[in-house]
Amino acid sequence: MSFSFRPRRSVLAVPGSSRKMIDKAKGLPADALFLDLEDAVSPLAKEQARTTIVEALNEDGWGDQLKVVRVNDWTTDATYLDVAAVVGGAGAHLDAILLPKVPDASHVKALDLLLTQVEKAHGLEVGRIGIEPQIEDALGLTNINEIATASPRVQTLVFGPADFMASINMRTLVVGEQPEGYDRGDAYHHILMTILMAARAHGLQAIDGPYLQIRDVEAFRRSAQRSAALGFDGKWVLHPSQIDAANEVFSPRQEDYDKAEMILDAYEWHTSAAGGARGAAMLGDEMIDEASRKMALVISAKGRAAGM
Ligand code: GLV
Ligand code: MG
Repeated sequence: MSFSFRPRRSVLAVPGSSRKMIDKAKGLPADALFLDLEDAVSPLAKEQARTTIVEALNEDGWGDQLKVVRVNDWTTDATYLDVAAVVGGAGAHLDAILLPKVPDASHVKALDLLLTQVEKAHGLEVGRIGIEPQIEDALGLTNINEIATASPRVQTLVFGPADFMASINMRTLVVGEQPEGYDRGDAYHHILMTILMAARAHGLQAIDGPYLQIRDVEAFRRSAQRSAALGFDGKWVLHPSQIDAANEVFSPRQEDYDKAEMILDAYEWHTSAAGGARGAAMLGDEMIDEASRKMALVISAKGRAAGM
């Protein structure tokens, strides 16, 4: 897989209707943020939120966070209006569109075509703005490989646990926690792994969704650790207090990063000493081989992306 993507360890959700929250988000250390036009904004406030987002994106003072806008899904009557307004008004300052409730590839293809038209109409570079499909129901999970490959603009696959759990009738009201009465492991495992497999199969980033108990940072950390351990690249944060935890959990531990660099150095040394032939080598008491090198490359790339 490609690791040339910018890091998305922490993805801050910001209501597009709140100028105050957008201004505050500018200075926070989240790797990415998305300005929301969907569920965090009431229907009556959506039109004003489009204007607020465009004004804010066109202003100075942004750091190098990845800037994303979440539009409303294609079953509403707002997707076209959202995209035309924010890409037409501030497309040059936008990295991607987050598309919620994607049930199949047709929703991604429709957004790709619309983006291309809006980019052309406004003299923007065609194809630069990415698409981040949110997987939020059983149909989306079933069609995940087609969604992942629906457009070269797709950069990530994003889990939407709240909508997902509602859509499959899971008996829980606490997003990110296990349903009451289930004692057989992690109820999210299959969904997370399916999203991760599709992301890895197609060279995309896999992003975990929100944890809603925003006052309990330790519980957030536990939830983040589950998806980070599987291999996810990052997680949404709903409150500034969750940002540091996400950045830490989704970065390699220093000792793992150091060891990965040692494995890469040692393997390189043995390979050149053997005249370029690759094979097994020793690092202290541990045998390392081509597969160890690949695992080390993953940790090393994630560490470098995190500035280690
Ligand atoms: C996010 O959109 C979610 O539904 O969890
Ligand atoms: Mg949702």
